[in-house]
Amino acid sequence: MIFGVDYYPEHWDESEWENQARLMREGGFNTVRMGEFAWKLFEKEEGKLDFSFLDKAIDVLSKEGIKVILGTPTAAPPKWLVNKYDVLQRDKYGRKKGWGARRECCANNPDYIAKSEIIVTEMIKHYKDNPNVIAWQIDNEFGCHASTRCYCEHCRKKFGEWLEEKYGSIDNLNEKWGNVFWSLEYDSFDDIILPAYNSCEGAYGDLWSHNPALDLEFRRFSSDSWVKYQKLQIDILRKYTSAPITHNLMGHFSDIDAYDLSRDLDFVSWDNYPDNQWGDSEYEYVSMAHENMRGAKNKNFVVMEEQSGPAGWDILGSTPRPGQLRLWTYQAAAHGGEGIVYFRFRTALFGMEQYWYGVTDHDGVPRRRYYELKRTGEELQRLEKYIIGAENKYDALIVKSYDNSWGHDIKRHAAGYNYENHLYSFYKANADLNITTAVSKGGYDKYKAVYMIAYNIVNDAETAELREYVKNGGTLVLTFRSGTRDEYNRVRPLALPGVFKEMAGIEAVEFDAPRRNVSVCGGVNGTARIWCDIIEPDTAETICAYGSEYYKGKAAVTVNRYGKGRVYYIGCDLDDGAMREIVSVISKSAGIETIDAPKGVEIINRDGYKIVLNHNENAVCTGVRGRSLISGAEFDGTLEGYGAEFVVPCGP
Ligand code: GLA
Ligand code: ZN
Repeated sequence: MIFGVDYYPEHWDESEWENQARLMREGGFNTVRMGEFAWKLFEKEEGKLDFSFLDKAIDVLSKEGIKVILGTPTAAPPKWLVNKYDVLQRDKYGRKKGWGARRECCANNPDYIAKSEIIVTEMIKHYKDNPNVIAWQIDNEFGCHASTRCYCEHCRKKFGEWLEEKYGSIDNLNEKWGNVFWSLEYDSFDDIILPAYNSCEGAYGDLWSHNPALDLEFRRFSSDSWVKYQKLQIDILRKYTSAPITHNLMGHFSDIDAYDLSRDLDFVSWDNYPDNQWGDSEYEYVSMAHENMRGAKNKNFVVMEEQSGPAGWDILGSTPRPGQLRLWTYQAAAHGGEGIVYFRFRTALFGMEQYWYGVTDHDGVPRRRYYELKRTGEELQRLEKYIIGAENKYDALIVKSYDNSWGHDIKRHAAGYNYENHLYSFYKANADLNITTAVSKGGYDKYKAVYMIAYNIVNDAETAELREYVKNGGTLVLTFRSGTRDEYNRVRPLALPGVFKEMAGIEAVEFDAPRRNVSVCGGVNGTARIWCDIIEPDTAETICAYGSEYYKGKAAVTVNRYGKGRVYYIGCDLDDGAMREIVSVISKSAGIETIDAPKGVEIINRDGYKIVLNHNENAVCTGVRGRSLISGAEFDGTLEGYGAEFVVPCGP
């Protein structure tokens, strides 16, 4: 399996390369990912291509048996390129983005596209027969540094063309978008505007006012623009090589549709930094990010950048505790990671990321982190058959929808509402009950429970598919702000919850965005604060009701028998404890086993064995006993702080 490091030979004197490669080999690292920011070194002047430095580096690495994943360098355009061509993005105020970091070019800019084609073509022609190059990474982290949406004239024109292809006639677009509102009808596709600065912005706090149809389509278009830009590079590589092609995505990042972006890739890879300058992540949040990346293609993935030291740009985050790098490695494996590359082998002496520590420090001397990874690598090679191609036994699915992510961001419903957090609250509750939970879309029949959280923008085909799933015995979980919009982001002329009303067997006759605690009691007890649907059950039963406000006694959460299955409707947000209670009720009725383990213990189900992770600093008794697949010895259930085990359980 791929057990590697991200490496930047261009940051080190050539005289150091051999020693670094030797240390890599001795540490058990068999792969490096490199090249993705070295455009200027490859093309010092326009059209003068020279890959000799990379040739030498690959050569040095290959002498130590280390293979290479090459990145195309298009995330970091050289200065000559931006001097000569106007390739930089425009922000929503029309300002040109400054050069000096990376990822500043526009995906629809013809010059950037042309220059990208040249560098990628030259690179693949040069390396197509090099046996040490085992895979390709396209570019680096599309969308990072808030670069998904550009407001330049190229984008505006392309957007018009994109819309013309979709809507056919401008009258159709005007009608679908409701452009009669405020006299916004266009006369032709040339008139199309971008949702940039307008008279409403700034007038009302951070309210950002454009027609929600325009805004949603622009987000779809911008996402598509990067998918297309990526495809252009993939097509070039494909002409010359059959080596697998990937891109390093960003876990929870939602500006670009990860289903679309990964469709053209052979495998998904992604970059995982649990604890950094911007804060420490809850372990469930990291697990969900892994699942999101596995679910993007419904296929195992590689972690292309895994945190390997304290990390930050100007201030540092916490230092990974002894055992934590190993734990994070197993956490990735537990969610479908079948290769891992640590960022970065040696910490940079210069540049923006002097404080983004790697496997070794500035002096390059192996210390605790290096030796921990070395041991981890040795274990992993033994566990390979439990990692490559391994599949979890998923009981539940959380449906991640990019349309809905964007739609909820455009119209946020209530102070404090956030779709991504809403999804996460359900993932976390499932994870805390140790339910093996996927994050993806479609294929509902594989799961005992399907969570369609705030599924607001929904089309008829999706509704029909869900109906079938429930009729055949599935358990569907719906929440407030579902079923009320069509694919053009228009509100449907229906009572709440819109297209799901019949399935849910209820009507939400009123709602409240209370901004104060509202108690919820009955089968589940807790507090809502952001949103309360006031529910009149029709065929549904009430699980719990509100305990305060003018709607005291009205239903808050219901369940409806529908065909052979059940539809739960959760009309309000709930605190963590109440979330666990409701997910536990749902799981019981759906025949999903929950495991009550100590806090911070994560248990993942596989055929014949379990992966058990202890995210706590202290040892705990996990309750899972059996034989360890790592050591072969008996496992009595006790995991040391930050410990991890693959366990074949004995007995019940
Ligand atoms: C991202 C990038 C890397 C590096 C790291 C650390 O994941 O892909 O190039 O910048 O973050 O900041
Ligand atoms: Zn642009």
